[in-house]
Amino acid sequence: MGALLATPWSRTRTRLPEWRALLTCRGQKLWQMRRALPAKNLVILGPVCLVRDAATFLDLERRGLIDAKGKPWANGCPLTAASEDVWRRQRRAIVRELPSALARSVACGEAAASRILAAAPGAADLRAVLEAEIAAWAVDLFAGPLDDRASKELLETLGPHWRCIRGRSPKEGGAAAARAHRAALAAAVADPRVAGVIGALRDAARRDDADESALRADEVVPNASNALVAAFETCLGLVLWTLAGLADRREARIRARDWCRAADAATARDERAALAAFKQAAAAGDDASVPQRFVLARCLEETLRVAPPVWTLARDFAGPRRYLKLDVLSVNSDDARPGAWDPLAPRKARPCASFGLGRRACPAGAAALQAAHAILAPLVAALDFRRRGPELADRAYLGPTLCVRGPVAFDVAPWPG
Ligand code: HEM
Repeated sequence: MGALLATPWSRTRTRLPEWRALLTCRGQKLWQMRRALPAKNLVILGPVCLVRDAATFLDLERRGLIDAKGKPWANGCPLTAASEDVWRRQRRAIVRELPSALARSVACGEAAASRILAAAPGAADLRAVLEAEIAAWAVDLFAGPLDDRASKELLETLGPHWRCIRGRSPKEGGAAAARAHRAALAAAVADPRVAGVIGALRDAARRDDADESALRADEVVPNASNALVAAFETCLGLVLWTLAGLADRREARIRARDWCRAADAATARDERAALAAFKQAAAAGDDASVPQRFVLARCLEETLRVAPPVWTLARDFAGPRRYLKLDVLSVNSDDARPGAWDPLAPRKARPCASFGLGRRACPAGAAALQAAHAILAPLVAALDFRRRGPELADRAYLGPTLCVRGPVAFDVAPWPG
């Protein structure tokens, strides 16, 4: 571990200047996460050759969180911020309840795809359409049908809350938006008709297990809030960056269109199973790749590798407020930047840190990956996308996940003939 921590940048294969240039593009302070941490306690790891050691290291349970500000959580703490016994108890309870609730993810994705398909041609800002409909996908998955009152309130509060936490001025209106979002979530948790992921988390708190492996009642809303935002923004990022990649590459667009048009239900199921297998292998720290024949799934793998929603993995070491961060990009790809997206290039199986590594790896990422597949398949089959305006990569920032500021315009039209 000593060697790992001591590894200087100059001896790694990471192209630090390129990475930094990307992160600081357009004068935006993209080093938000870095600035939020005491720099002397921050070590950034990047060498691909050390990924196995890093995986072992990242198996630590403690995760340094940028927003904890060193204060303990007064009330229910979410899984993402928990450590040691609290983390173990929550993780057991959540992992036990989540899978059955997440099984609806693809069906909710197909419903979102129909709405996006109706709105996309002619939309001036396709990102706004995707943002609205993928938020609706997440709320459908978490709270059930969108015409129910609880879901409507949740949908109305999710966008403003998310824009504040990921936006330029998080403090402006952020507290009010967060309060409104939590109140809507608390109302959904209290409503026995609400099922979905919220119902599953509520059930996780209702269990009366002798081994105390239940969620505490005050941990339900913080966990529902974190997971809802995680699901929404990772799925949005996957869809947006994949469409941007396709829009810039005609050959890949045509290959993906032909593949999606020819795929029947059984092929689509196999392709989603390949995505789930990819996620599992990646999170275990194994070499992973999606078979080349699954063209749309390869596009999603490419997005995960070069434009991962989460760019760094943090752990505490040697006590609180001493952070280690793993650079996800340098583990994932030798072309570590969003502009290098190329799903037609053969890729050897190799590690992919996009879902995290070790025992704190993402417990639910496959659901967002498969939903992104269900959303993209009908869009790519029916519509031709070309991007207008500057490269998306030039407008990317970390907030702390990979985001794009402002409208994203595409020319969208049905394929001719
Ligand atoms: C493609 C989609 C997704 C990606 C790329 C992703 C990525 C990640 C990453 C990198 C971590 C940190 C892992 C680590 O530190 O080792 C994480 C943790 C987590 N993710 Fe995801 N995620 C995705 C989707 C989701 C979804 C849909 C949910 C909830 C429904 C979710 C819930 C969580 C939770 C609760 C944790 C904390 C786990 C723990 O601390 O034990 N994620 N995710």
